[in-house]
Amino acid sequence: MDNKVLIFDTTLRDGEQVPGCQLNTVEKIEVAHALESLGVDVIEAGFPISSPGDFKSVVEISKAISNPVICALTRAVKKDIEVAADALQFAKRKRIHTGIGTSSYHIQYKIKSTPDEILRRAADAVKYAKKFVEDVEFYAEDAGRSDLPYLAKVIEAVINSGATVVNIPDTTGYCLPEEYGRIINYLRENVPNIDKAVISTHCHNDLGMATANTVMGILNGARQVEVTMNGIGERAGNTSLEEIAMILKSHHDLNLETGINTKLIYNTSRLVSNLMRMPVQANKAIVGRNAFAHSSGIHQDGVLKKRENYEIIDPVEVGIRESSIILTARSGRAALNHHLELLGFKFGKEELDDIYHRFLLLADRKKEINDEDIRVLAGVVFKGERSMKLDHLQVSCGKSLIPVAMVGIKINGEVHFSTASGNGPIDAAFTAVKQLISKTVHLEEFLVQAITRGSDDQGKVHIQIEHAGKHYYGFSANTDIVTASVEAFIDAIAKIE
Ligand code: KIV
Ligand code: ZN
Repeated sequence: MDNKVLIFDTTLRDGEQVPGCQLNTVEKIEVAHALESLGVDVIEAGFPISSPGDFKSVVEISKAISNPVICALTRAVKKDIEVAADALQFAKRKRIHTGIGTSSYHIQYKIKSTPDEILRRAADAVKYAKKFVEDVEFYAEDAGRSDLPYLAKVIEAVINSGATVVNIPDTTGYCLPEEYGRIINYLRENVPNIDKAVISTHCHNDLGMATANTVMGILNGARQVEVTMNGIGERAGNTSLEEIAMILKSHHDLNLETGINTKLIYNTSRLVSNLMRMPVQANKAIVGRNAFAHSSGIHQDGVLKKRENYEIIDPVEVGIRESSIILTARSGRAALNHHLELLGFKFGKEELDDIYHRFLLLADRKKEINDEDIRVLAGVVFKGERSMKLDHLQVSCGKSLIPVAMVGIKINGEVHFSTASGNGPIDAAFTAVKQLISKTVHLEEFLVQAITRGSDDQGKVHIQIEHAGKHYYGFSANTDIVTASVEAFIDAIAKIE
């Protein structure tokens, strides 16, 4: 059996379904370029029928990317397939990913159909997709809870219709690793034409077993894995790309390989995290801030004596390096640009001007600018005129003072002022902002995070608000956390149409 495991990245589709992680087309292209450099084999670029924005992103990613196959998701519906084929028209290598639910839950309660009808629709969808593209992947949604003999019949039928890849999702993240491995093995042993298609895993992390299940899928013969950067995805997320890449790289005994350039993992992780406003948990395997930090004295001593005492992966292998150049307010544009390039960013003159301007403002307030600061500056690169932005903020607060804030917001070029009090400076400032807008908004989530450690550090603020039943996200980073909070609040409000 082939020892290459194909990496199918669905950060821009399953990952992007996460509330608050939506990207615009320019940002999606930036992520797609990073995934191409990382060496993924397939990029699932979107679900074109779902929205005009998704359609446009698949078109633009198809134009921009050369090496990976560009894949578009559909339901087993003719119109979906036609729209996906249209969106993929510029792709150098293209794939349609179509499918339908095969568990009794999905057949009976979601689609309200019968097993025979689902089998017919599955085979017909693949046949129809084959009219547009050669490479067709079929997904059996909720395969993890499907009746195995029935699943095998569906898989046999779709391969007969021309499916080149058969995806066996554990959609609900329910399977135990052994159980998921058994499903893949069962299909290999009971589907007569299985050697005509690649078996793909697609595991969700509801019980924290997505990676373990994917590994069991590989050990039982799957040769494509569907993964996302940082493990983002529906609910508890998908299998994370970096974990699979490093498991296969570390366990030489398995004799399996991927095409991933692991030295680009860390930068790609941070790019996705910054653009999607989705912090990486500190103890996340491979890419978390603490993944290579040894805090106990015994461990530190052990690592100093020999790194392998407590480290199974050299951090350099995943692209984590100590910064050799420290940037300060005296650093020039060229030094900043060089540093950005070392971190994997490439910007045009106008974008660089914007980042440099914000870099100088930050360097005035913070003595040394580190890699995380630069990633944040690069992640919030200016992409067009904002309709609403913070122009002025003054707060007074302290022990035995009533916190009061005055804000000035520039709305379509004109500055409007408002003053309010609250139970703290942020509450006062948010109330003042609310007085200036005509919409009712409810604050649903408010997260302030220090980027590194010092008291001169920047705070990153993530905010979720609700307006008329819809949710909007805002982000900002600043050494002044009150300013960052108000900017993030305004960022979210500005997204309400
Ligand atoms: O989890 C799932 O079943 C999916 C399919 C659409 C592939 O994301
Ligand atoms: Zn999924």
